[in-house]
Amino acid sequence: MLQFVSTKGGGEPVDFETAILDGFAVDGGLYVPETLPGITQDQLKKWKGLNYTSLAFEILSLFIDRSIVSSEDLKQILHTAYEPFEKKEIIPLHSLKSRKDTYIMELFYGPTISFKDVGLAFLVNLVNFFLERKGEHLSVVVATTGDTGPATAYFVAGKSNIDAWVLYPKGLITEEQERQMTTLQQTNVHPVGVSNCPDGGDDLDIVISKLYANKRFKEKLKLSSVNSINWGRVMMQTVHYFYGYLQVTDTIGEHVSMSVPSGGFGNLCAGGLARKMGLPIKHLIVANNNNACLHRIFSKGLFTKKAIIETPSSAIDILVPYNFWRYLYFCVDKNPKKIKKWMHEFNTTGSVQFDKDTFERYSDGFLSNSSSDKETLDTIQDIYKTESYLLDPHGAVSLHAADALREVLGNEKLICLATAHPSKFPEVIKKALLTNALPKEATHQRIEDAKRLCEKVHLCDHSHLEEALMHAMEANWDETKGI
Ligand SMILES: Cc1ncc(COP(=O)(O)O)c(C=O)c1O
Repeated sequence: MLQFVSTKGGGEPVDFETAILDGFAVDGGLYVPETLPGITQDQLKKWKGLNYTSLAFEILSLFIDRSIVSSEDLKQILHTAYEPFEKKEIIPLHSLKSRKDTYIMELFYGPTISFKDVGLAFLVNLVNFFLERKGEHLSVVVATTGDTGPATAYFVAGKSNIDAWVLYPKGLITEEQERQMTTLQQTNVHPVGVSNCPDGGDDLDIVISKLYANKRFKEKLKLSSVNSINWGRVMMQTVHYFYGYLQVTDTIGEHVSMSVPSGGFGNLCAGGLARKMGLPIKHLIVANNNNACLHRIFSKGLFTKKAIIETPSSAIDILVPYNFWRYLYFCVDKNPKKIKKWMHEFNTTGSVQFDKDTFERYSDGFLSNSSSDKETLDTIQDIYKTESYLLDPHGAVSLHAADALREVLGNEKLICLATAHPSKFPEVIKKALLTNALPKEATHQRIEDAKRLCEKVHLCDHSHLEEALMHAMEANWDETKGI
């Protein structure tokens, strides 16, 4: 049976269910499968023509032992997860008119209209399935730069075995994203708006790690994570790379490139692993904004933390791409000692300069770019004017990166991942289109509905977040358990 181990090498190997329910590994590392399953061209040929959920079933079955989740249960979980999606294709591909062989993968047709729905729909339903079977309850704490929070809140809402604490940096996400979390009115969803986060969403991750490190608290409240720390998110996100490939190719074996707007590297880690499994992806483009943390890693071999810059693509204003460690693990012969050493170096000095051999290994097959605010806004305007297609700022970062690297790319087909619906970013769209009147493509009924509901939220200053959060979480836990 496939076992899961920590990227830092601590603890014993665990089974799939434990890896999913724990979120973090015991030593603070990230869970990874002991071996990455390989796929052949024959398998890819068989999968051509499958719809999204049937393809997901095939890919997930490579990681999930039938004794842990039976095929009927896996099918049922997938069905429940993707039923609320707006389009029957789940993630349709849109062919651009102005660029040859270029497609936009629309990952925003889930209930909270960002690509986070794609991973969280499955993960939350899977966690719930395990908890119901065990008769247990757990608390998840997530930090968000605007999209993980709404998706977690939506899928957890009303599930009696899970409480979700959803932390967001107040003022650094859009009002629309905030209202998606605060208007749900479900007693098991607890949005927490945190003021004065100097490093944005990264500050919240630090507090969450401290809660995990507190053994008494972690055990009492059965803390877990559905951030892309959780292997389940990364695993589920491999599916859209396979799906996109199978949709745009005529012949199995031909190469495709993909451009991905990146922050924490969860999405790209999945893309990199899909390629390592055997998917013929030529280039993976790391599309960054001005924060450029991943661009520095992939162009200079330098992993360093700088001050945060606010940009129009706020969901990727991220300084520490923690899933990079997970991908790196697979590039250095799965050597946990190396990962541990580099993580320690980064945590103590704020910077790691990778040696030439390591750099060559992890950057193989990757290109990177950082788009300025103007380039992002111009891309939104250009594509709207030329073909009446409205991208959100993150999709624009992805398309701009591909345009900027066009000469390095070959003739292969290109898929740009669009990770959010433009209605989540109305002020950016107005700025890009130089208008105060939003076009209908920049509105969405779900966003309009949330405007008419009352908000329920905990507010807290970053300076005392840890203490205040522990107090609120413990009081809620005791109340729910009748202690
Ligand atoms: C809209 C959007 N695009 C891209 C990303 C980046 O994804 P990742 O953190 O997996 O790189 C995020 C989240 O962080 C997001 O919300």
